[in-house]
Amino acid sequence: MSAISSPEKIPAGFIQRYTFTERVCHWVSSLTYVYCLFTGLAFYSPHLYWIAFVLGGGPTSRFWHPIVGLLFLAGAVWMHDLWRREMDVTETDKRWLRRVEDYASNQDELLPLQERFNAGQKIFYWLMFYGALVLLLSGIFIWFPEYISFQIAWLRTLMIVIHEIAALATIGGFIVHVYMGIFFVPGSMTAMTVGYVSRTWARMHHRLWYIRVTGGDLDREK
Ligand code: HEM
Repeated sequence: MSAISSPEKIPAGFIQRYTFTERVCHWVSSLTYVYCLFTGLAFYSPHLYWIAFVLGGGPTSRFWHPIVGLLFLAGAVWMHDLWRREMDVTETDKRWLRRVEDYASNQDELLPLQERFNAGQKIFYWLMFYGALVLLLSGIFIWFPEYISFQIAWLRTLMIVIHEIAALATIGGFIVHVYMGIFFVPGSMTAMTVGYVSRTWARMHHRLWYIRVTGGDLDREK
């Protein structure tokens, strides 16, 4: 995994969850996504067009939306380079998914022990990665309407529908992700701001990862 080598100061009782590089990558992806989300909503419905005015006007939003979209895709590809090895869905993840109700009711002790990312986080990651690819491929047809001849106008219409479906799918995942990060799993935000989490948080939510990075022992941990 790539990381900027300067060691970061971690207070006692905390451990590093994300390197500086990982955090920069995350926030580049997040901010570019949020910009595309708001300008995209403005184009989606006349009732939401006021958002474009807030963001500098309709033509400005139309100009920047696809360009910032390319930056979002670059962020997603960079993220893929950093995390894809840890995002494979395993047999343990499938068992975790079958018990997702226990997760939703905060009964983590009934769930299989987790590595650095749980199955829900992995699903969100793949949704955003493939979502970014589909948004780019469909978006190209919408970006340059002057190159679409009358005979293939249907293709552009189809791409608009695909673009909207992909956007709605990522928006669903995004809302859940932000809710989880800010409210549902207290203590997560420091992971993405300063890069570390409390040892208690790490033991509770990602025990196998905690043991791996601290050199702990599962038997002693039980
Ligand atoms: C702008 C609002 C966002 C907030 C407040 C936010 C918050 C967070 C937090 C707190 C974590 C750490 C969770 C943990 O380690 O357990 C995280 C991880 C992550 N974020 Fe975000 N995030 C946001 C947007 C995004 C966007 C737009 C993407 C899509 C590219 C994204 C992709 C990820 C991924 C893949 C992870 C690691 C796996 C996971 O926790 O789901 N985030 N985020």
